[in-house]
Amino acid sequence: MLPTAAPLIATDVHRTYHLAGHDLPVLRGVNLEVKAGEKVFLCGQSGAGKTTLLYVLGGLEQPTSGDVMVHGRSLYRAAAAERARTRNEVMGFVFQHYFLLPELTALENVLLPAMIGGKKAESRARELLDTVGLSQRLNHLPTELSGGEQQRVAIARSLINDPGIIYADEPTGNLDASTGSGVIDMLMKVVNEAQKTLIVVTHDRELATRGDRRLILKDGRLEEG
Ligand SMILES: Nc1ncnc2c1ncn2[C@@H]1O[C@H](COP(=O)(O)OP(=O)(O)OP(=O)(O)O)[C@@H](O)[C@H]1O
Ligand SMILES: [Mg+2]
Repeated sequence: MLPTAAPLIATDVHRTYHLAGHDLPVLRGVNLEVKAGEKVFLCGQSGAGKTTLLYVLGGLEQPTSGDVMVHGRSLYRAAAAERARTRNEVMGFVFQHYFLLPELTALENVLLPAMIGGKKAESRARELLDTVGLSQRLNHLPTELSGGEQQRVAIARSLINDPGIIYADEPTGNLDASTGSGVIDMLMKVVNEAQKTLIVVTHDRELATRGDRRLILKDGRLEEG
């Protein structure tokens, strides 16, 4: 890997869904280059294809054509097992619905991606939960946490493997405005401190001004916004 290479490069990405005999072209030639440490917010109307694009950029959704390079690794010229390894090693994810495992405590949820990679990381998990203000909630189950607290657990979890890039899809979509704003503050703080690259999807154009760059997905392509 060249240290100077951009951590995220998408080249002429297309994604068409095929439904009941007709084609729905959602991504129609997306090109994107994100610099190390850059915070990019992607916005656009409901149905514009933001989640589809984030999933393609995150190795979760095969594009119809085009490719994505993450830290010098091709996502879609690689086999599925290699793509899964890249996801676990260099990417972290935060989703609107948190996706915490209900039977695991906050601490265990944060530890899970490290355990998948065969690493022991308990002291790091405790540190991360402390950073997001949850050192008093280590042994709480998700049902015993508020929405904002669950999302902060998810932020801590996204960082456990020290990934280069964090992807977030509507991370505040389930939260009231003030809790959501606090969660974004927290996300920006931990990402800045750890010098991570951040890609956030939001339909909220105001929220999208909080990064270094705002891009709008429209008619299947990205525009500077
Ligand atoms: N698996 C699928 N099969 C068929 N069509 C799909 C599929 N997933 C998404 N779509 C369609 O692709 C379009 C883009 O969906 P996507 O979820 O990416 O939009 P979005 O910009 O994230 O919207 P929102 O802001 O509402 O979350 C939508 O019209 C949707 O109906
Ligand atoms: Mg979406």
